[in-house]
Amino acid sequence: MIAGTTARTRIAVLVSGSGSNLQALIDASVDPHFGAEIAVVVADRPNAGALKRAADAGIAHVVVSWSDYSDRETFTTAICDATHTHDVTGLVLAGFMRILSPVAIRRYPDAIINVHPALLPAFPGADAVGQALAHGVTVTGVTVHFVDEQVDHGPIILQESAAVHPDDTIDILHRRIQQIEHTVLPLAVDAFGKGLLRVVGRRVEWSSL
Ligand code: GAR
Repeated sequence: MIAGTTARTRIAVLVSGSGSNLQALIDASVDPHFGAEIAVVVADRPNAGALKRAADAGIAHVVVSWSDYSDRETFTTAICDATHTHDVTGLVLAGFMRILSPVAIRRYPDAIINVHPALLPAFPGADAVGQALAHGVTVTGVTVHFVDEQVDHGPIILQESAAVHPDDTIDILHRRIQQIEHTVLPLAVDAFGKGLLRVVGRRVEWSSL
């Protein structure tokens, strides 16, 4: 521990993709006052680019392959067993493209954070950016929320909007949204790690330090 700082909340970051949000968390946690420490990165597939980012940062990383399990329950149990080994207090789903079974929510109540590339409750699911474009909205954005037993549904921690331009493609709009994700996800994880977030019904109350 660095002099003048307190122990940080240990988290696991769950990933499926390139890991740009994981990178934002790695970069934020260089600051010793950041509220969380990434104890382990868990990927659901061996070819997730995020695994290299974890390795480069010297962070423990494991693969729990979706294809090795017969159902969502056993897959989720394997993930929770892996995170338990690293003694974490919460999970951050940073581009994790699997739905966890309620087993995880029981193990980590009000302690699983997801980042979603739309302003929930609009456009839940795996194709949020494509849905926003298809719908013709002029504003979409980012939601960081606690995970509950319904998909892309739990109490909202932070939201920020992104403009949709008439000539946007899915890739261009997604990049604009991800730039926002890289700011708001670390803010939410820092607040979670510092114990500043309290879930009250469907709402999240923030307290100051
Ligand atoms: C992020 O934009 C995240 O919001 C999205 O996947 C991307 C992963 O990017 N998640 C979802 O769509 C979940 N429904 P990254 O691997 O570069 O962080």
